[in-house]
Amino acid sequence: MKGIILSGGHGTRLRPLTNVTSKQLLPVYNKPMIFYPLETLLKAGIKEIMIIVAPDHCGDYMRVLGSGRDFGAGVRFTYEIQDEPKGIAQSFLIAENFLDDGDNATLILGDNIFEHDFTNDIQNFKSGGLVFAREVEDPERFGVLEFDQNGKVISVEEKPKVPKSNFAQVGIYVFDGRVLEAAKSVTPSARGELEITDVADWYLKKGELVAKPIQGFWADAGTLETLHRASVWARERANLS
Ligand code: G1P
Repeated sequence: MKGIILSGGHGTRLRPLTNVTSKQLLPVYNKPMIFYPLETLLKAGIKEIMIIVAPDHCGDYMRVLGSGRDFGAGVRFTYEIQDEPKGIAQSFLIAENFLDDGDNATLILGDNIFEHDFTNDIQNFKSGGLVFAREVEDPERFGVLEFDQNGKVISVEEKPKVPKSNFAQVGIYVFDGRVLEAAKSVTPSARGELEITDVADWYLKKGELVAKPIQGFWADAGTLETLHRASVWARERANLS
């Protein structure tokens, strides 16, 4: 299993903080934001990790994270640049050479902070697509998953005006070696992005998409408000342990 962290974008919603450095390097209590998704992958046993960054402040990532050596035996980082933010699914195209041995891949967004432990889900993953759901009050802000009575996914839509459920598809995705083929089949959405929901839909249409609920705290720390909320949670957690 390989890991990819997408840490692109210009972080415009967090200016002027993002004039200093990339959004995903801003502090969330006592650590740069990207440490949280990175630790989520490392905890699940993933050691080969590609970090995809925006051109602005890209040197800061190498300075802060280095080769991977400081994060455990056998941990190895490689870096790629996302010249323009053209959607989450673009990550797989950028990572084409990294993925060309057909390995399974877990993609996590650099601003998504999870308390949930994905170790079992990732280590027991065999094939198809695995995404994760969380009930939210504002589903129209997210990819939305719809389930039937047996908990089977029946639709996945990016930021629908009229959401079919309150379940958001959160920012971590596990796909098998066909993900490159899936990503290549995706065409840009109305907002000009290659949507990750379309990659999930590619697996759904084959009857191979599974969605599981997550437990505990989750934040997409991309706004001032959620960044603050994430810091408050991280402080409570640090003081408890
Ligand atoms: C992205 C995805 C969306 C997902 C969300 C999770 O939204 O497109 O499907 O629910 O991340 O954080 P964005 O951050 O681009 O608004």
